[in-house]
Amino acid sequence: MRKRDLNHLIENENHQTDLEALYERFDDADLRTEARTRAFRDEDEKSPNSRGRLTEEGVAQLFRERETEEIDDGPPYGYRWTTWDDPDAQRGPEPYPDWLITHLGAVDEQHGILKTGKEADVFLIERSVPDTDDGILLASKRYRSGDHRMFHRDAGYLEGRRSRKSRERRAVANRSAFGRNLIAQQWAIAEFDVLGELWNAGAPVPYPVQRIGTELLMEFLGDREGGAAPRLAQLRPEPDELAELWRQLVEAMALMGRLGYTHGDLSAFNLLVHNGTLMLIDLPQVVDVIANPQGHTFLERDASNISHWFQARGMAHDLADPMMLIDLVRTEAGI
Ligand SMILES: Nc1ncnc2c1ncn2[C@@H]1O[C@H](COP(=O)(O)OP(=O)(O)OP(=O)(O)O)[C@@H](O)[C@H]1O
Ligand SMILES: [Mg+2]
Repeated sequence: MRKRDLNHLIENENHQTDLEALYERFDDADLRTEARTRAFRDEDEKSPNSRGRLTEEGVAQLFRERETEEIDDGPPYGYRWTTWDDPDAQRGPEPYPDWLITHLGAVDEQHGILKTGKEADVFLIERSVPDTDDGILLASKRYRSGDHRMFHRDAGYLEGRRSRKSRERRAVANRSAFGRNLIAQQWAIAEFDVLGELWNAGAPVPYPVQRIGTELLMEFLGDREGGAAPRLAQLRPEPDELAELWRQLVEAMALMGRLGYTHGDLSAFNLLVHNGTLMLIDLPQVVDVIANPQGHTFLERDASNISHWFQARGMAHDLADPMMLIDLVRTEAGI
């Protein structure tokens, strides 16, 4: 499609006007509406809900999705009926939290993108019951079936989960579009399952609401207006707050250790701070520290990454100590 047009338009400084011009060129009315109604939140932008505005990356994303038709199994933009009763949906652990809307007459409305990534896009969804005041915000993480860094990094992971159906096995092996979609779905399943297990154990993770195909719906961590909780990396905590966050981190890692896990990609970008509580996110690659031959290496990396972040923010090195974290997790895991 008109990629050259797009590049030309988005390179231009006055891109807001040019985007309008770009929308006008679409002969597809749906896409035009979609483009107008999709808000996009830039990673560092403070206000998440600037509806109707689209940044350059938002437009590029839209094109990518349209061109590759990677989300053609996803919901239509705008509204959709709640997918809660979808027979293919995997639902979160019971008892369902009080705040969750399970009403079959509910609708889901997409408000915008919280974050686009190479592997997944995270959208803000509002689920509400028409003609009532009931409404909740959810985060929808959709794994893309494109070029997955993690997939290359950890081919061994997929081997363990090899499908019994030979057609699926072949599709995954030769990375056909169908195969890539299956891989994306496996990551969604992996993250959904881990979230459920951690949630049941009382770990600080968003409640996993449901999963259908490559889409995982979870509790939105943020305010009622749709402002997402900041990543730890964005914060400059005062010394006492920093010490408190470290305390919470140690507790969370100990709890994961008790289940035999380490995060596997732990960093200040995969921790959100929600009303003073440190929350673990981005968990599809969770590592079994006992069974995985590289378990110890992943644990060391996690412990070292996060301790160094706390040290760089001013925590004493003997407090934010990676060796202490490693020993703690190993002890909790019974190694
Ligand atoms: N439950 C949630 N509530 C609020 N915001 C969320 C939630 N889950 C994810 N996000 C936002 O989306 C971002 C990306 O999520 P996540 O890290 O799970 O996906 P990712 O594709 O692996 O991203 P990356 O490649 O940047 O690590 C998070 O940094 C956070 O800002
Ligand atoms: Mg992440």
